Amino acid sequence: MTFSPSLSLDDARQYTRGRVSKKRMAHIEGVVDVGDRLSKRLALSAEDRQRVLLACMLHDSCKEYKEKDLIAMALESGMALSPIELENGHLLHGPVAAHVIQKDLGVTDQEIVSAIAEHTLGNVPMTLISQIVFLADCLDETRPVDYTKPIWAALCPDGETTDLPNGMLKALDSSLEHVIATRRSIHPKTVDVRNYFLGIVKAAIT
Ligand SMILES: [Fe+2]
Ligand SMILES: [Fe+2]
Repeated sequence: MTFSPSLSLDDARQYTRGRVSKKRMAHIEGVVDVGDRLSKRLALSAEDRQRVLLACMLHDSCKEYKEKDLIAMALESGMALSPIELENGHLLHGPVAAHVIQKDLGVTDQEIVSAIAEHTLGNVPMTLISQIVFLADCLDETRPVDYTKPIWAALCPDGETTDLPNGMLKALDSSLEHVIATRRSIHPKTVDVRNYFLGIVKAAIT
């Protein structure tokens, strides 16, 4: 796997800062912070920690693109879009960012690329790095505590354990509940990803 050592976290920060609002940047810095904390808790290697930090820093770099532009860029890059993605083009900001940063920044590391692409809907399966970035996105401190607290409780049930699949399950459950409560269409991938992590959590219990 090719790592991109030439891209520093500060290079990535400059890149993202030029593309998003100050408010969004505060969220992104919060995600980087949580990504760093989780990397330390899980004792990741220095390379993997850097992958997490870069993916966190770049994950929302296309979040403020117009919906029609996201759809056009996704189609242009050859992505097959589902009816829900055509209805809600904002869902594409992860996959589009994953595509754009390869072109703009020369990022070739597929762990970084897939973590960015998967940060909204997840994937089956998901790498450790992708799970950390997904959860960091849910847990940054600009999000309401009543949303983050149950996810932290599932992820870090005591001072020592870090249970990523359990954290993912809780985050996906919360996301589904929110989509239902706000009467939006559920992306089938979220259901598949939720069931995938439920299977992992159940298998660990039995
Ligand atoms: Fe996002
Ligand atoms: Fe985000």
